[in-house]
Amino acid sequence: MQIVLLGYMGSGKSTIGRSLSEDLNIEFIDLDTAIEQKIQQPIPEIFKERGEIFFRKKETEVLASLLNENKDMVLATGGGTPCYSTNMENILKSGAISIYLKVSIPELVDRIALEQSERPLVSHLPKAALPEFIGKHLFERTPFYDRADHTVVCDGKSPAEIIQEIKVLI
Ligand code: S3P
Repeated sequence: MQIVLLGYMGSGKSTIGRSLSEDLNIEFIDLDTAIEQKIQQPIPEIFKERGEIFFRKKETEVLASLLNENKDMVLATGGGTPCYSTNMENILKSGAISIYLKVSIPELVDRIALEQSERPLVSHLPKAALPEFIGKHLFERTPFYDRADHTVVCDGKSPAEIIQEIKVLI
């Protein structure tokens, strides 16, 4: 079984993905980590030294090769993964079950503000600019996330509750 988790930065893809994979006893793969391993550089450095376009190309390549492996896994994507190139088409046609972890703008703002410096797309912004940036950015990305097979609304739920909901869907 292949499960692909989608959602904005801070939506809990990695946390939920790791616990879900333990629960299902299958491998957990974090796409960002797989890219870092391939390029041998942390994501913020890749953005800074090689630029976002380079990152997006690598993201597309690593995603395609992971989906091609056809092995059981929970794959946590990056927040932008389904929004660039043919990534969303590839996820949908891969046979994986895609799940959008939906989190509201105020909740995302709170979560992202806590680790803003590690996130290259928002690290340069003053904190006060986060709500507007995240609001617009999420609006642009929602049409991609909405193509997932399932949506789980995550606000106010514990990871255990979210995992239970996912297990009912798969
Ligand atoms: C990005 C999200 C990040 C990472 C990169 C770009 C995005 O992943 O892939 O910084 O475009 O939203 P997370 O969603 O895991 O933070």
